[in-house]
Amino acid sequence: MKTQDYIDREQRYLASNYHPLPVVLNKADGCWVWDVEGHKYLDFLSAYSAMSAGHLNQRIQNALISQLNTLGVPSRAFYTDKLGAFAEKLCILSGMDQMLPMNTGAEAVETAIKAARRWGYQTKKIPKDKAKIIVSSGNFHGRTTTIVGFSSEAEYKRDFGPFDGGFVETPYGDLDALERIAADPHVCGYITEPMQGEAGIVMPPEGWLAEAQAICKKHNVLFIIDEIQTGLGRTGKDFAFQHEINNPDGLILGKALGGGVYPVSAFLASKDVMDVFDAGSHGSTFGGNPIAAAIGLEALSILEDEQLSLKSKTLGDYLKQSLIDMNSGYVRDVRGAGLWIGMDIDPDKISARTLCEQFKDEGILCKETHETIVRFAPPLTITKDEIDWALGRIRPILQSV
Ligand SMILES: Cc1ncc(COP(=O)(O)O)c(C=O)c1O
Repeated sequence: MKTQDYIDREQRYLASNYHPLPVVLNKADGCWVWDVEGHKYLDFLSAYSAMSAGHLNQRIQNALISQLNTLGVPSRAFYTDKLGAFAEKLCILSGMDQMLPMNTGAEAVETAIKAARRWGYQTKKIPKDKAKIIVSSGNFHGRTTTIVGFSSEAEYKRDFGPFDGGFVETPYGDLDALERIAADPHVCGYITEPMQGEAGIVMPPEGWLAEAQAICKKHNVLFIIDEIQTGLGRTGKDFAFQHEINNPDGLILGKALGGGVYPVSAFLASKDVMDVFDAGSHGSTFGGNPIAAAIGLEALSILEDEQLSLKSKTLGDYLKQSLIDMNSGYVRDVRGAGLWIGMDIDPDKISARTLCEQFKDEGILCKETHETIVRFAPPLTITKDEIDWALGRIRPILQSV
């Protein structure tokens, strides 16, 4: 079968909820992937930051296989030997007190919403069913009906209503607006990305995160950070919040926590917040199963042992500066942190999609977000030589304007 045959079959039998680049992958190793016709590409997307440890990472594979050969999914009706070790490591690394394991990112966000609301009723004494959660404009937290209900992106919610309510939007990065909304005594939490990924690698003003946390503290509002995309080294720190603050009240993780091979997500919080959950109040058949725990534990060990956050910072600074230095007429802005970079493309000159297709033809796989942003997020295990290889192919395209 050729490339087009695979594409035709997917298009015939799958819902059209994605718009993939026309390349059919069947093999990977490290930062490289291959298509069914044997072409080799440098992965500059890492499964939207899930594949930070690199494809076919030997340590992740060993953790998976050895766990598969020992104990699979007994459910949380019983204690198991790996979950405590995973939770302990993640709590120590993040500085949070306790974790509640789930599978996908959206499930961990839903967990945070439940925690914030219960804390609002039980601790802040908000009247029954009146709790409000603040969210940021331009947010992306997943695709459940509750979550898309508070998205500011019309297309994410079109004809999926009615929505729950209970959410108030504040302009991302605007501290005055946040202060006004947080003063409402019915507000229990503020859930936000520390830097916005799907919105197009949007960086808030410097100092914003620390100030936002102070405002939430002043008004007794939980400050909950969604680091599903920015966490685990992606922005040059273990967690993006560490660029400005010690600890939020709640932390949401996913993607790279599963080593790129298994859905592992978590909601972490201070003990007083996590205490709102009691037996039967929340759960998941697969959440925190031994395979997830073994992989999560190994993904965290790799992050530490291979100093991926430091690598992300050093190589990310280099990649970003090299892109800025290209001075491309297509590019209005280059921004980001660590190996998480967005190029804002001038739509009058070229579409982000067309650029991604041109990069693909030169052996680099990345993806547009919205019509005008190209995101670069290679595995954090990438080498400087591999980045130079990519720059050598990106430069002629960006300078062809
Ligand atoms: C910040 C953020 N939150 C939540 C999600 C949703 O995660 P999932 O697709 O695993 O449900 C994503 C996915 O891109 C994300 O970037």
